[in-house]
Amino acid sequence: MKKHIAALALGATLISTTALAADMPAKAQACIGCHGADGNSTSPIFPKLAGQHAQYLENALKAYRDGFRRNDMMNRFAKNLTDEDIKAIAQYFSSQKAK
Ligand code: HEC
Repeated sequence: MKKHIAALALGATLISTTALAADMPAKAQACIGCHGADGNSTSPIFPKLAGQHAQYLENALKAYRDGFRRNDMMNRFAKNLTDEDIKAIAQYFSSQKAK
């Protein structure tokens, strides 16, 4: 019985890491459409976030949120992020491998 539970837990972990990275902050899901689940966007219109310095991403997001950096799309998506959200999201994309 114990073995079964362990196997199930392992299976669930594997599935969740392949579908969506397990450590992805909930609010980062709003970014996937343009920047990719792992921060490697597939279109040159959208910058890659993977592997960028966390501090750089954090500064950029705060600048969009607070209106110092203007871009209609990003101003909208950064608007409701708290400092904590931004820190977590920046850490997440920074820790992804740039492809
Ligand atoms: C509808 C598409 C779209 C969505 C959704 C979106 N972005 Fe963006 N993002 C862009 C575009 C376009 C740019 C480039 C804007 C510019 O030129 O300043 C950008 C730029 C950025 C940058 C600056 C990158 C750099 O190299 O300077 C960061 C950081 C960023 N986005 C993070 C996010 C995060 C975090 C989310 C989710 C909360 C998100 N974006 C959601 C389209 C999007």
